[in-house]
Amino acid sequence: MEQFDLVIRNGTVATAADIMQCDVGIRDGKVAMLGCDLGPGRTEIDAAGKLVLPGGVDAHCHLDQPMEEGLRMADDFRSGTVSAACGGTTTVIPFAAQAKGQSLRAAVDDYHRRAAGKAVIDYAFHMIVSDPTEQVLKHELPQLVREGYTSFKIYMTYDDLKLNDRQILELLAVARREGAMVMVHAENADCIGWLTEQLEQAGLTAPKYHASSRPMLVEREATHRAIALSELVDVPILIVHVSGKEAIEQIRWAHGQGLRIYAETCPQYLVLSADDLDQPGYHGAKCVCSPPPRDKANQQYVWDGLASGLFTVFSSDHAPFRYDDPEGKKPGGQEVPFRYIPNGTPGLETRLPLLFSEGVGRGRIDLNRFVALTATDPAKMYGLYPRKGTIAIGSDADIAIWDPHKQVTIRNDMLHHDVDYTPYEGMQVTGWPVITLSRGEIVCSDGQACGAVGRGQFLACGLPDPARPRKVVVD
Ligand code: URP
Ligand code: ZN
Ligand code: ZN
Repeated sequence: MEQFDLVIRNGTVATAADIMQCDVGIRDGKVAMLGCDLGPGRTEIDAAGKLVLPGGVDAHCHLDQPMEEGLRMADDFRSGTVSAACGGTTTVIPFAAQAKGQSLRAAVDDYHRRAAGKAVIDYAFHMIVSDPTEQVLKHELPQLVREGYTSFKIYMTYDDLKLNDRQILELLAVARREGAMVMVHAENADCIGWLTEQLEQAGLTAPKYHASSRPMLVEREATHRAIALSELVDVPILIVHVSGKEAIEQIRWAHGQGLRIYAETCPQYLVLSADDLDQPGYHGAKCVCSPPPRDKANQQYVWDGLASGLFTVFSSDHAPFRYDDPEGKKPGGQEVPFRYIPNGTPGLETRLPLLFSEGVGRGRIDLNRFVALTATDPAKMYGLYPRKGTIAIGSDADIAIWDPHKQVTIRNDMLHHDVDYTPYEGMQVTGWPVITLSRGEIVCSDGQACGAVGRGQFLACGLPDPARPRKVVVD
């Protein structure tokens, strides 16, 4: 009889393609066998009545990212990865962000120092390119892609990060040559700047006016421009954190033209709305993120895009700032005008339960699509598949065992991040991961984090599946 380190018995195993009643045999941290009545394991988990799913791949989250003077992200690689693991995620891809004037290599080295010895699950890095000098374009970026940093984000907004169209074209050309994936934050910086000034002159500076300063038009225009730039260079891109109808229509149009435009959305665009920025006092600051959440009709557009395949990736965009904190949402301890509120919402731990409950539970998407959006397709998108993102022979045994009937009222107290709030406080969900395994080791069990701090490994990424240069077929 075959001997395994661990056998998960009697569960319902689901991948992006299949649903199977079978046992999972794990040896040396990898899936060794799938089948019925497998031989004994040194440890056994009875998963009767449970779903056995690939651990989530959260391909867009921010952990311990260097901030401007006076601001600090609440989660580092320890608290962020513990929180992710307790929400059923087993791989995170945060961002090594280049500051203007800094070399890209220095940003990556610094980020490795921040991660070292802290993560409880495996992690890769995207880069953020804010200063595409000749040295970056010709030497650093190509070399870093070859070393396993195969995706980078560019910004069309934020004064300290934004690139002009010429710079974007130069970077897209490097991505095309090297086979890297470019993630685009698509909002028109000048429109936002102008609107912000108009609002300030009218004395409208409360958190809710953040949404007024970034209407869908600014996202639509930048999305359209990003698509055009990608078409010109003939290279795929991925538009991150798409918020609603107008950007979706641009992406749908691009698909109709046969353009390789990929798209990501996030829980905040399904569950939150601009009304959540209009809470009493200053509490709306908790939901200030960019693009801002829209309205109920737009939530429906996002759901339709998730179901139809318009979206490939569902990420948290976890950007953790404490609410009651002079280094967080109240810079310097003040309730500041919206332009100074650090952007972002926390969501690493709630990403999967929210999509499972609101999506699978309510029949908006099926279980295979849930797995595709949250694990398999992000792993393919960023060159981690099939090591990550599936349950298959030879894959890492990164697995989340779900109780699909468990009813949970989300409370910040039960979450493991270092943020002092969740935008989803009081929401009731059905379905929650009860055991999370990373390379065959239990890292969270019934809400108790139990992975050794520092056990998480850095993952050098392969070339993203969609960015591989197309072969010319000659018959
Ligand atoms: O508001 C957001 N999304 N903050 C995080 C940074 C980013 O642009 O993704
Ligand atoms: Zn962004
Ligand atoms: Zn982000």
